[in-house]
Amino acid sequence: MVRLFGPLVGLFFAVALLWSFGNGAFMAITEPAPATAEHEFHLHPKKVHFASDGVFGKFDKQQLQRGFQVYKEVCATCHSLKHVAFRDLAALGYSEPEVKAIAKQWGTKQPTFDPKSGERSERDNIPSDFIPQVYYAGQGSPPDLSLITKARHDGGAYVASLLTGYQDQPAELLKKFPDAKTPDGLYYNPYFANLNLSMPAPLSGDGQVTYADGTKATVDQMAQDVAAFLIWTAEPKLDKRKQTGWAVLGFLLAATVLAYLAKKNVWADQH
Ligand code: HEC
Repeated sequence: MVRLFGPLVGLFFAVALLWSFGNGAFMAITEPAPATAEHEFHLHPKKVHFASDGVFGKFDKQQLQRGFQVYKEVCATCHSLKHVAFRDLAALGYSEPEVKAIAKQWGTKQPTFDPKSGERSERDNIPSDFIPQVYYAGQGSPPDLSLITKARHDGGAYVASLLTGYQDQPAELLKKFPDAKTPDGLYYNPYFANLNLSMPAPLSGDGQVTYADGTKATVDQMAQDVAAFLIWTAEPKLDKRKQTGWAVLGFLLAATVLAYLAKKNVWADQH
């Protein structure tokens, strides 16, 4: 009995599959999904080169320091970096007293809680503290930026493109999709997945920060520097990982040569 039914059940599934494929293909051709503004106007990140790109890439510490400065002076009022401790900044080339000073002068203080009195208060940051979370009263929820370059496709280039991508909504878009007008309180940016986001353009003009190393602070420069810094926060050990990778490859290569020579030696009299 089972032998008889087996092929019939198989045939049933094969026919069902073919039928649903045919039906889907027919629908896709006769009634294609309606075009959307996101589909037509969303842009992929611009091509941006970072020093840390590629298998030989290494962080440019000077750039990371500039990016940190942009984060500190512009982004930190809204965005936290809860996975980065002040002492981690030593990796950017800051000395111990500099790290101490950065922590102490940080605008958002560390919240404290005294379990004896139940009192909540705050104190200055110290190097072992993580960059504190910030309260944001405006519209939308600024995400923590520690891992943002890992959470978005082509993260570094995406952040740089987003920061420089604010513009007026194209007339063409409104003509084609009158319902897709940017709602009040949101801003049009073609690099954001649904084209409208609640972050006002944070980098509004050249010279918004004054770089200590004399680099000219154009909007593009600041955007790339802060993006490079956020690549570092998401993977601070990137340099080390690449170096270790090369060392491991070298070791494997040497071990392969040794294994080959050993094999030749062991089987020498058999050939
Ligand atoms: C005035 C507050 C404010 C400032 C200053 C600000 N942001 Fe934002 N940011 C926001 C808000 C609000 C969102 C959430 C946007 C949304 O989801 O609509 C956001 C979202 C983001 C996102 C996530 C976008 C996504 O794909 O989800 C990134 C990246 C970002 N901000 C980077 C920055 C950087 C870098 C700076 C500093 C140069 C900065 N922001 C300064 C408020 C701010």
